[in-house]
Amino acid sequence: MLKRRQLFQFVGAAALMYSGAGYSKELAAKPFRHYPFDPVAAENFQNKLFIPGTSGPFGILDVTGPLKIRATAASFSILPGHESPFLLYQTEHAGKAYQNPILRLESGARFTASLDNALTEPTIIHWHGLHTPAAMDGHPGSTIAPGGRFEYDFTVPNRGGTYWYHTHAHGLTARQAYQGLASFFLVDDKDQRSLAKALDLRIGETDLPLVIQDKQFDKEGKLLYQPNAQESMMGWLGDVVLANLTPNAVQVVTQRSYRLRILNGSNARIYRLAFSKGNSPDATRLNFTVIGTDGGLIERPEKVTEAFISPGERLDVLFDAGQGEPGTDLFLKSLAFDPMENEGTVSMPGMSGMGESTSRLAMGAEFNILKLSVMPGKPVLTTLPATLSQVKPIPLVGAAQRQIKLSLKDMKFLINGRSFGMHDIAFNVKRGAVEVWSISNPKLGMPHPMHLHGFSFQVIERLNSPPQVSALARFGKGRTVSDLGWKDTVLVWPGETVRIAIDFTHDYPGSQTYLFHCHNLEHGDGGMMLNYRVQA
Ligand code: C2O
Ligand code: CU
Ligand code: CU
Repeated sequence: MLKRRQLFQFVGAAALMYSGAGYSKELAAKPFRHYPFDPVAAENFQNKLFIPGTSGPFGILDVTGPLKIRATAASFSILPGHESPFLLYQTEHAGKAYQNPILRLESGARFTASLDNALTEPTIIHWHGLHTPAAMDGHPGSTIAPGGRFEYDFTVPNRGGTYWYHTHAHGLTARQAYQGLASFFLVDDKDQRSLAKALDLRIGETDLPLVIQDKQFDKEGKLLYQPNAQESMMGWLGDVVLANLTPNAVQVVTQRSYRLRILNGSNARIYRLAFSKGNSPDATRLNFTVIGTDGGLIERPEKVTEAFISPGERLDVLFDAGQGEPGTDLFLKSLAFDPMENEGTVSMPGMSGMGESTSRLAMGAEFNILKLSVMPGKPVLTTLPATLSQVKPIPLVGAAQRQIKLSLKDMKFLINGRSFGMHDIAFNVKRGAVEVWSISNPKLGMPHPMHLHGFSFQVIERLNSPPQVSALARFGKGRTVSDLGWKDTVLVWPGETVRIAIDFTHDYPGSQTYLFHCHNLEHGDGGMMLNYRVQA
């Protein structure tokens, strides 16, 4: 039987308590199993948040010339006092050594790197969100064998923003990314610089890249990745929540604004992000300001109290720690929500005997991610610019309409009835054409974060959203704050149709083949992925 317990728990609670604080209060009151690093227990939050420096693990690397990157197996200490096998990218630059460097580059600059595969298995790097020629995109078809080398050379036409890179090895993406092969790729530009100046944002101090991931560990503190049939189908969930690979992280802050460049680097977990003062069930929710999404800054700062973020998405957030008095603890957390992942599967024949989720933290449970301890210090007041950037709407007149239907068949998730074939082209689009894709998810399904390679898109409309999403639809046409600006990944909930606009203009000659896939990494590896071709 499949998660029936959770189904009743959440659907029952949700029906009664959807609107307002009562919902999360009720769920928070339910007993949770306690275990080391349980993120539900606020008192566990005692480990200093890892902050990237200018070298070493996740060091910020300003790219000024060709890089030599090696994908290699290493060991890494994630849980305090334990070493865990880990996969990472190593490089040296300007006399400094880096592991999983946070690459930083100016918009329009050239990026040249070689990837040496020093693993015992195939791999390749994909630059998530960057607009590159198909040959440079790290398509699974470019996967290189152990001992192999791949040469990357492209310019980065993207606007400033928080992008990332990760393995896209054919069929191995989920496990390899989980084991460490992922980091940030930051693009800088004029808008980013003027924002940084206005708000006194300094990377590694008041501007913090923050990757959120959930993982499981065995008794020796080693990363565990052993999806059973049910977990390969639904996605692998962890029960230890890491912020910058720190479990139960705490960061000391003063009364000022911080920029958090939040990346959901989890394999399958969706977070309903919020900030709260203290951690009691009736803790006050705090405001935060969304300033950017996947593809850089949005037009205007938007003040909210919560936002969903699904695997692959980024949310660039300003949080004013001045909302807490010195001596108080503020929490970045994930609020309870209805995971909506049972209806289609519990009743399906053939689903028994697949095992239950082995994670002690259910999808949709409420838990903490990061504690912010407010220290005395003089409050810093800054004025947020009224305009952050310009996001020109893609002109929709004459746009071609395309239906994208997600479905479930024989325990596999499909796109337009297909499962991924390395050389299959699902459809062609014309270079320079604008298309509107209507991505529909059946009611009896689960949420899917759909990701496009090669181009950024704009979310133009959400239809038939579930109540927990439509409750956040303050931005016209059913859109939530996570839908604003330029996107490369969009969450499509069961029963929803999400319409996105894509302008297939680029400079690359001939035809170019890119991926469109679900960023639930188990789904992607399981075939919920297709090739589309941009024809000259
Ligand atoms: Cu971040 Cu094709 O993926
Ligand atoms: Cu991508
Ligand atoms: Cu999916």
